[in-house]
Amino acid sequence: MNNLAAWCFRTAVIYALFGMIMGEIMAASGDHGLMPVHAHINVLGWVSLALFGVFYKLWPEAAEGSLAGLQFGLFNAGTVVQAIGVTLILTGDESFAPVAAGGSALLILGMAMFAFLVYRHTRS
Ligand code: HEM
Ligand code: HEM
Repeated sequence: MNNLAAWCFRTAVIYALFGMIMGEIMAASGDHGLMPVHAHINVLGWVSLALFGVFYKLWPEAAEGSLAGLQFGLFNAGTVVQAIGVTLILTGDESFAPVAAGGSALLILGMAMFAFLVYRHTRS
């Protein structure tokens, strides 16, 4: 397996464990106040990164070069920064909205890079 695909899966399972433990805590406590954070850690961190890993495994040439590494890094940074920003907003401090927005912008940038790599490498 090329290294980036492996790193996608290594990172995705950490988000999955974190997101599921968070879900268990939400279920046990009955406090679903951070549900959007739980949902996005799971769907961005676990599901999306695992899908990136599948793509980089199927099209290893797309994983070569610095763009794919940057894509992986930006998407990870976006997931973590968005989660921190949304957590702070939902726990009562609206002033952290720019942090959530910044994280979301990193996510969109990371996904735009991924879209570019997909279109570039699936032509043949
Ligand atoms: C041990 C595993 C998990 C537990 C205990 C758990 C628990 C929960 C709980 C308590 C909620 C709040 C439900 C509500 O307030 O209506 C929730 C919502 C959600 N969870 Fe999980 N979860 C788990 C794993 C996952 C995984 C693996 C994913 C995605 C791959 C996921 C995606 C979501 C989503 C998208 C929502 C929001 C649903 C909605 O909009 O109503 N969860 N989860
Ligand atoms: C830039 C990236 C994203 C932003 C800014 C964003 C923003 C949001 C917002 C504002 C909500 C409503 C939350 C609420 O009602 O309290 C939401 C819900 C949801 N989003 Fe996203 N989203 C993003 C990416 C994604 C992606 C890529 C997925 C799936 C792979 C996804 C899946 C969901 C799901 C399942 C819900 C319903 C659960 C919930 O209410 O938290 N989102 N999102």
